[in-house]
Amino acid sequence: RLPSDLMLRNALLYLSNQQRVFRFIRDNRLAKRFASRFVAGETIEEALEAVAALNGRGIRASLDLLGESVTNAAEAQQTGREYVELLERIQARGLDANVSVKLTAMGQDIDEGLCVETIGAVLRTAQGFGNFVRLDMESSAYTQKTLDLFYGRLYPAYPENVGIVLQSYLYRTDDDVKRANQERCRVRICKGAYKEPPAVAYPDKADVDKSYVRAMQALMRDGRYPGIATHDEAIIAEAKRFAKAEGIATDRFEFQMLYGVRRDLQDALVREGYNVRVYVPFGTQWYPYLMRRLAERPANVAFMTGNIVKE
Ligand code: FDA
Repeated sequence: RLPSDLMLRNALLYLSNQQRVFRFIRDNRLAKRFASRFVAGETIEEALEAVAALNGRGIRASLDLLGESVTNAAEAQQTGREYVELLERIQARGLDANVSVKLTAMGQDIDEGLCVETIGAVLRTAQGFGNFVRLDMESSAYTQKTLDLFYGRLYPAYPENVGIVLQSYLYRTDDDVKRANQERCRVRICKGAYKEPPAVAYPDKADVDKSYVRAMQALMRDGRYPGIATHDEAIIAEAKRFAKAEGIATDRFEFQMLYGVRRDLQDALVREGYNVRVYVPFGTQWYPYLMRRLAERPANVAFMTGNIVKE
């Protein structure tokens, strides 16, 4: 990447944490319209419509109610109730969708007991419907805490209904993949979207990509129905090659992509007979999510400002 791209990426990741900037952007009609490319609306109803459209294209979904770290118990409990409702509405409409949750939105920063209780109610609902809850992975400050909670409390109680995310930019991920395979738990592998220091994460993209391929191959060979979350065509080609070479059937893994990113590639994979799931974020708290997507592809900033200039 060009150094200017890296500077822009860092600036965008910095802005993703600035609530004051969010308040300004949220009221901006044009920013909202741009967000609608990556975010499936602000209400459950709009999100379910987006899922129905994806299901019509042969694509499954994982619904994410946008929102990150909450600061009081009432907010965490409210988020938990909204996820329970979301699972009920998915079931009532017969949609092919599971949910993705962030533990910080369930009170992880406030109190572990509160977090376990809140996510527990969501997991019980998912279990009742035979559905599945993916615990998104946040910044490296949460990696160990999240895995401890998962292996210690959640996975033993709901082995069929909960899974984790591992990020290939972290040095620790080779070891985390080994453990996940030993414990037979479901993993989504992604590159990682947060700003991390070189003490914990590979600074060079080439190393992140190599680490991704190592983790992906180990999960495909020895893991349990991994989610291969990437839009990287070279890595997707490698996954297909590896599956063929190792005799891994297409129903033993799925490709995952983000809502609004590389729709052409999503459809092509479905036509070729692969399982594809799209991550569908919705809700009013879309700002940090949008900024991370811009940081991944600074060309999107030009796309956004270009649209504003045209107005
Ligand atoms: P990379 O960034 O190398 O991009 C490869 C190509 O994909 C680019 O050249 C471009 O063409 C296209 N592309 C990528 N991002 C784009 C964008 N925003 N807009 C347009 N084109 C784009 N992260 C995390 O830390 N925790 C998590 O829990 C998750 N969960 C998750 C779920 C799913 C389903 C996906 C697909 C991704 C995540 N991520 C995540 C985000 C992930 O870590 C990563 O930041 C992005 O997927 C971008 O990385 P790629 O693998 O696509 O490769």
